[in-house]
Amino acid sequence: VGSDGTKQFTLTMQTGTTEFFEGKKTPTWGINGSYLGPTIRVSRGDKVAFDVVNHLPETSTLHWHGMRLPAAMDGGPHQMIEAGSTWNPSWTIEQPAATTWYHPHLHGKTALHVYRGLAGLFLIEDQDSKKLPSNYGVDDIPIIIQDKMFNGDGSFNESMDLTPFGMLGNQILVNGTYDPYLRITSSQVRFRLLNGSNARAYHIGFSDNRSFYLVGNDAGLLPEPIKMKRILLSPGERAEIVIEFKEGEETILHSFAGKDGIENGEFDLVKLIADQRLTAATPLPQTLTSEPPIEVPADAKVRTFVLTTESAINGKKMDMNRIDEVVPARSREIWEITNKGWDHNFHIHDATFTILDKNGELPPKYERGRKDTVFIPSGTKVRLAVDFGSYPDPTTPYMYHCHLLYHEDSGMMGQFVIV
Ligand code: C2O
Ligand code: CU
Ligand code: CU
Repeated sequence: VGSDGTKQFTLTMQTGTTEFFEGKKTPTWGINGSYLGPTIRVSRGDKVAFDVVNHLPETSTLHWHGMRLPAAMDGGPHQMIEAGSTWNPSWTIEQPAATTWYHPHLHGKTALHVYRGLAGLFLIEDQDSKKLPSNYGVDDIPIIIQDKMFNGDGSFNESMDLTPFGMLGNQILVNGTYDPYLRITSSQVRFRLLNGSNARAYHIGFSDNRSFYLVGNDAGLLPEPIKMKRILLSPGERAEIVIEFKEGEETILHSFAGKDGIENGEFDLVKLIADQRLTAATPLPQTLTSEPPIEVPADAKVRTFVLTTESAINGKKMDMNRIDEVVPARSREIWEITNKGWDHNFHIHDATFTILDKNGELPPKYERGRKDTVFIPSGTKVRLAVDFGSYPDPTTPYMYHCHLLYHEDSGMMGQFVIV
């Protein structure tokens, strides 16, 4: 913390090796370590400043996914950090509590840089979020889910174009660990789930089919907890869930197979082993947040986007020198996205949205909260009520794109400015 109260962080992107399997060394990339990066924890209202140091052998960037901030601080493809140099973004946290994350966004290289291990969580707290289990690492647990494919020598298979969706791995790492377990010490535990995979989607639940409470989507807490058994997360999406445990219980956080394509695998994620004595917990609050819903005016501007099997949006491939959309600061618009191709999802930088409908119907309950990334399966049309940012900058664009990273790298991305 600096003299003016600014919270100062140093993040160093570096190369290393990681022993995911005993006796095998995997060359990896990480932030302040050899794989993944530290969890950054701040409160609403904080001023933050970063030294992002690039000790990699090549240019990268670091994007704050889910953050509301000026475009020049966003860490997208335009904020390149050359090998050996340092980037110094700073901004004030002005958004409700949420589980956000950070990862590189170098155009054409995002998939590879994330896959090698550059990513981490960025948690924002406020009055509301502190009423949930908040003892980080004890009853507030980060769960970063990534799929990988390994070569015989332990190195990553780096075929980013392995399938039409990109890399779909056959092994799971959670928080950079293969076959992990977690000792549960409290009768109520909050998991912050991040799908940090390149392309795979997960139907997350428990091996004993128990229920859990969904308390937050990507961009913040829900009005009230939703009891459920499965949640589907596509790449880049987050969910906060609260699980109740009894003494001595064991279960497994599991991903159940879905339809062919990016949902096709079945995987154990984390074994959970509850102690014989558990710390008692207070009941979950029935009202989680008082943030008002995102409402769009009756005459809201509607923008339409069409996705196909081609890696393009509205037939246009990403062009760093073309601004696709110009959006007034603080506006609320309807973005209508139609997927005529295979499965995709859609993420908008510096924006928060709620899903108005999917194929004309209300989305499933678990997708009704505040979001910044939405799964759009093949043949689906979604309408989003989007709340845009408040930092005008007519020359520095933000991105919107498919978060299947191979699609994004191949050109399924567009640029907008806030004016
Ligand atoms: Cu998570 Cu534009 O990215
Ligand atoms: Cu983002
Ligand atoms: Cu896609």
